[in-house]
Amino acid sequence: MSSVPVTYGEASITPRGDYAHCDADYTCAQPWARYTPQEHALFARLYARQMALVPGRACEEFVRALPHLRAQRGIPRFDDINVRLKPATGWEVVAVPGLIPESAFFGLLAARRFPVTVWLRRPEEFDYIVEPDLFHDLFGHVPLLFEPRFADYMQAFGAGGLKAQGQHALQYLARLYWYTVEFGLIRSDQGLRIYGAGILSSGGEVAHSLHSPQARRVRFDLPRLLRSRYRIDTFQATYFIIDSFQQLFDATAPDFTPLYAQAAVQPEIEAGMLLPREVDETVGRETG
Ligand code: PHE
Ligand code: CO
Repeated sequence: MSSVPVTYGEASITPRGDYAHCDADYTCAQPWARYTPQEHALFARLYARQMALVPGRACEEFVRALPHLRAQRGIPRFDDINVRLKPATGWEVVAVPGLIPESAFFGLLAARRFPVTVWLRRPEEFDYIVEPDLFHDLFGHVPLLFEPRFADYMQAFGAGGLKAQGQHALQYLARLYWYTVEFGLIRSDQGLRIYGAGILSSGGEVAHSLHSPQARRVRFDLPRLLRSRYRIDTFQATYFIIDSFQQLFDATAPDFTPLYAQAAVQPEIEAGMLLPREVDETVGRETG
């Protein structure tokens, strides 16, 4: 495999990473012995920074699963995480060189295999990195794979992606991924909480997503979401709130074919825009 441009969000980038030594499905071995002491230390610093931010802001399911990673002291071995993850939900973490083509990505998800990038960001990217790296993929995504409803959603998403490819509907499905898996918010009895990996692996977006008056927070509404553009290079302007992972799974279970057709003939909605009569769920409310 060589490094080819892949679509990432609404952009196309040539990914960082060594694609020469991966298999046809883009998985590779995790080069665990080659991580340097500096990389382990950087990972531990990233972990400590996020750990200080997530209690009371991330959803309970995420916080409870974090210790399963055993990632506090440095980069864990994926195989070691799988010892606990496989019996919990049937998912496993697999190593990939970096961003991979959509069909490969969907195929892995549909098989309950979550691809995690093997390389770690550079120290100067501590606060922000556009391309997903090992820390984002592992810390942000893997804890919720221990949650049975969310785990089922991720598999259904992979299968839905393979199907959408034949329907020229990938841009819609990318929005669904973005606004749920990457940047989703969820209601809890204690207030608004985060479940999106892109927020949970970010130093600044944790607070922004819950509290910034610049951001809109609206009820999860699938037809609306499919029409909503998003940003890949800065904090989000709009967040969608689900009531539960069950709601997310149930709302996305039906065949999307009519939804794709409907979205294709309706205008797109810019990031940060509210529709007429649409309510920002956080105006005048305590967001917890
Ligand atoms: N129900 C979707 C379809 O018919 C599949 C899907 C499920 C997509 C869950 C995303 C998330 O295409
Ligand atoms: Co991600």
